[in-house]
Amino acid sequence: MTDTELLFNPFEPGFTDDPYPVYHRMRAADPVHQHPFGFWLLTGYEDVAAVLRAGLSVDERLVTDPEFRAQQDQLSEDGLTILGRSMLDRDPPDHTRLRSLVTKVFTPRSVAALEPEITGIVDSLLDGIDTAKHVDLAEALAFPLPFTVISRMLGMPPTDHERIRELSGTLVRSLEPVADPEVVQAISAASDEMAELTREVIAWKREHPADDLLSALIAAEQDGDRLTDDELIAQVTLLYIAGHETTVNLIANGTVALLRNPDQLALLRARPDLAGNAVEEFLRYDSPVQQTRRVTVAPHTVRGREIPANTFVIACLASANRDERFWGEDADRLRIDRENARHHVSFGAGPHHCLGAALARLEGRVAIERLVGRFPALRFDGDVVWNGRMNLRGPAKLPVAV
Ligand code: HEM
Repeated sequence: MTDTELLFNPFEPGFTDDPYPVYHRMRAADPVHQHPFGFWLLTGYEDVAAVLRAGLSVDERLVTDPEFRAQQDQLSEDGLTILGRSMLDRDPPDHTRLRSLVTKVFTPRSVAALEPEITGIVDSLLDGIDTAKHVDLAEALAFPLPFTVISRMLGMPPTDHERIRELSGTLVRSLEPVADPEVVQAISAASDEMAELTREVIAWKREHPADDLLSALIAAEQDGDRLTDDELIAQVTLLYIAGHETTVNLIANGTVALLRNPDQLALLRARPDLAGNAVEEFLRYDSPVQQTRRVTVAPHTVRGREIPANTFVIACLASANRDERFWGEDADRLRIDRENARHHVSFGAGPHHCLGAALARLEGRVAIERLVGRFPALRFDGDVVWNGRMNLRGPAKLPVAV
């Protein structure tokens, strides 16, 4: 079968610029799709939400498909990247233990207390914008905000930010289908280098403990043997990467959505109290994380179709968020006053529901409120350039004039 004959081909040119027509077609033609490449793809809201809550595995080592195995085995000895060793890819009891350690130091109250600091960071980034010049909002706001926030929360020492940004950008490709063996090699190398960097950061922090997340996690490791050295490295890397690679897309995709829908931008200007709900609608309308994965441990039935055991299942969050059977006929419209916008599945659902959801919501709201409030003439000033990723999809360049 050639690529062009596939019903779902994420490598199709243009897919990552606008995947929504393909998702629409998949929901209509085959919402429980057995892909010829060995995985299954779920695109309907109810099925996606149900599979995330069904307690399937997240351990990719259980997948038996020979092609999948061959690719994973190129990554490392155990077939996992550094991210793959974090709670994101662990089942109970490891998942429960790792997650509870992070939950303890990442409470809703500690997140809410960050609002003044986040507002200060946003304002100083907006101060730095030269109103007379072209502005790339991805560089000026969407990236530096979450990167600065998570770096400060963790208490990262001064590091080579550009290098970390590059490594992290490569590493997150492990969260999507990869066809090119060179990319698999690059992911493997980035994983090793990132692990080494995190190891150095942890060593530094042991010498310089402070009131921050990293010190708290190190203390959790020292306090009995609840966290091994490798686990500590994996958790820190996950928090660091998940802390910025996702929220950058929330801010940038949200801004693109607003600028493409001037009536909604006008509504937000008239009703700033809608900012919180607008963030929920941005998350629904253009999911910062487009998909997640599960592995069946036993045969699993969805809509009467039986997915065999030890099979890789992609749950397409972005498609679920546009499912007209759940959202109604205007599912493809941005409506910042949509009443049930918060029912999106952009943060996942079930045992792996995003630990950083409150932080992402806070950063997204403050960024949009201040941006829209500050620049009444905000508009596009060139074409958006998408980052070419299937999963953590967002603009690489977002040219605006203010
Ligand atoms: C898990 C999305 C921001 C930390 C997840 C999952 C999704 C997600 C979909 C679940 C994956 C699955 O079920 O397989 C997002 C989005 C964000 C965001 C859309 C921003 C708009 C953040 C931030 C942090 C964070 C800011 C931390 C600072 C985590 C962690 C997990 C996770 C630690 C793993 C939870 C577990 O496995 O139990 N996120 N995330 N996320 N997220 Fe986020």
